[in-house]
Amino acid sequence: MLSLLRLRLPAWLLLLTLVVAAAYAATPGRPNIVVLLADDLGYGDVGCFGNTTISTPNIDRLAQNGAVLTHHTAAAAVCTPSRAALLTGRYPVRSGMESYFKNKVFIIVAASGGLPTNETTFAKVLQQQGYSTGYIGKWHLGLYCTSKDDPCHHPLRHGFDYFYGLPLTNLKDFGADDGSVVTTYFPNIFRFCYTAMALSAAFSYLLFRSGRPIAASFVFALFFVDPAVLVFFVKSIPTLNGVVMRNFDVVEQPVRLPGMTQRLVAESQRFVRSAVAEEKPFLLFLSFIHVHTALFSHPFFAGKSAHGRYGDNVEELDWAIGKVTELLQETDQTNNTFVYFTSDNGAHVQEIGVNGEREGGYNGIFRGGKTMGGWEGGIRVPTVVSWPGRVPSGLKIEASTSQLDVMPTLLAVAGAEPPRDRVIDGSNILPLLRKESAAASHEFLFHYCGIHIHAVRYTPRDGSGTWKVHFMSPNPALCTYVCHCYGSYVLRHDPPLIFHLDSDPSESRPLSERDDPSVARVRAAVAEAVAKHKASLQLVPQQFDFFHSVWRPWLQPCCSYPFCSCHENYTLADTL
Ligand SMILES: *[C@@H]1O[C@H](CO)[C@@H](O)[C@H](O)[C@H]1NC(C)=O
Ligand SMILES: *[C@@H]1O[C@H](CO)[C@@H](O)[C@H](O)[C@H]1NC(C)=O
Repeated sequence: MLSLLRLRLPAWLLLLTLVVAAAYAATPGRPNIVVLLADDLGYGDVGCFGNTTISTPNIDRLAQNGAVLTHHTAAAAVCTPSRAALLTGRYPVRSGMESYFKNKVFIIVAASGGLPTNETTFAKVLQQQGYSTGYIGKWHLGLYCTSKDDPCHHPLRHGFDYFYGLPLTNLKDFGADDGSVVTTYFPNIFRFCYTAMALSAAFSYLLFRSGRPIAASFVFALFFVDPAVLVFFVKSIPTLNGVVMRNFDVVEQPVRLPGMTQRLVAESQRFVRSAVAEEKPFLLFLSFIHVHTALFSHPFFAGKSAHGRYGDNVEELDWAIGKVTELLQETDQTNNTFVYFTSDNGAHVQEIGVNGEREGGYNGIFRGGKTMGGWEGGIRVPTVVSWPGRVPSGLKIEASTSQLDVMPTLLAVAGAEPPRDRVIDGSNILPLLRKESAAASHEFLFHYCGIHIHAVRYTPRDGSGTWKVHFMSPNPALCTYVCHCYGSYVLRHDPPLIFHLDSDPSESRPLSERDDPSVARVRAAVAEAVAKHKASLQLVPQQFDFFHSVWRPWLQPCCSYPFCSCHENYTLADTL
């Protein structure tokens, strides 16, 4: 064969072919992307963010080999809108994913709200670029639209080739103790229902005996059946909402939490190994169930940390991140993989367990926490990026950046472009990560609580640092378990509260013109920016209105009628 070629082709052409082939083989493929998203992890819960008593060696190692982003904020202080922004690079209010109501996240899997199909996630673009795309873990961005044949909000409709995980979220009710989101809001609900049932049973019996059967059945129907149905629903929350899907199939119901982290790791391993075997670049989005309540752990982690069950959950999360790092090494992909680790919002400081113990994390020096859209504790999130050889190791990025930047940045990593037919609020922070720039990614960031702008972050281009202007903040007296965003639940600040974050990161000393002559200029610049931003918003279908939030029986996922109970065969490994 070779002699034949030699006969027909000039030697220089053969040589050229060999050189080109060798160069092609040496060019690594397009970089892989791994997004590791923790749920409700606080800024102060991680070793490399200053926690000295918790053990997170794997996150810390990722940070040592890459960059720590000390000033990175989520676009919302609760899961659903924050995740919508992360995936689309747009303020969630633009996609109808911010609520004007008390309920700020999806809580019913059989409701019809969700991330609209016409939104462009980074996964959709990467999929079109030939990436193998997998979403493993918690989704929380909706499921069905009109029928179960129409999973319009499902990860597979948003650019992912593969999905394994919870379409909804972790809820307290899925845990092994009696924790429940319903009893957290209404502690006496069961006592109330049982009392009503007992009284109405007795009363309707008496009415029946006194020859008034119609009145008897009326009392029974109203005051016995209704509370009974309510009790049934609350007790059925794990079955109704604790649904695990593999692609479009329900494979587990209700979810079994212990060992879930190990299963998410095993799913990630399978996904990555198969993409590597097919020689395709991959996007792995691993969205942890940890450290949201219900707290749970594999027996291996239970009771191991210095911070109770919450600490055990953080350490199990860290273990899983170590397994992903190992996976990249084992498949020889470490140097060709951009890894982004973050949390969807700050720690939930008001989270209390059934015995009154704290079950939420720690936001370090920052004020407030989850559900508080304006205060730093709700939105400043521990974030690490690693891309060996491209992102300098040991880099510390103190300039303000946002999760809105993730979409354009990941597309830049892959050499792709964001869509041009809509507003993209994020910007590409690759120059910051590569040390080619030191500037904050935004002059203004708007911090929403529901559909309301509670605060604005302003980093003037004159290098005077970052300012924060608060128009509203939650009334602490009315923040029980969660804070609400509007009406009498908030304190209005007129004039707005202004802090200089670089000198007062804890937002404890509001500044007046007398303290600092820049204050008036900051206030004016922010007012103008808010007006401009508001003018750029369009009216879109709301995903949180009553219509989209109610339970629709025909959308209820159920793997086996009538009990809706199933699981795949797996064993809880006793070694890790
Ligand atoms: C470390 O994190 C735990 C868990 O949130 C918290 O209770 C503790 O106060 C933190 N410790 C330090 C030193 O930051
Ligand atoms: C990966 O990148 C690092 C940092 O640039 C380098 O030291 C190491 O040799 C590379 N490893 C491989 C297997 O190419």
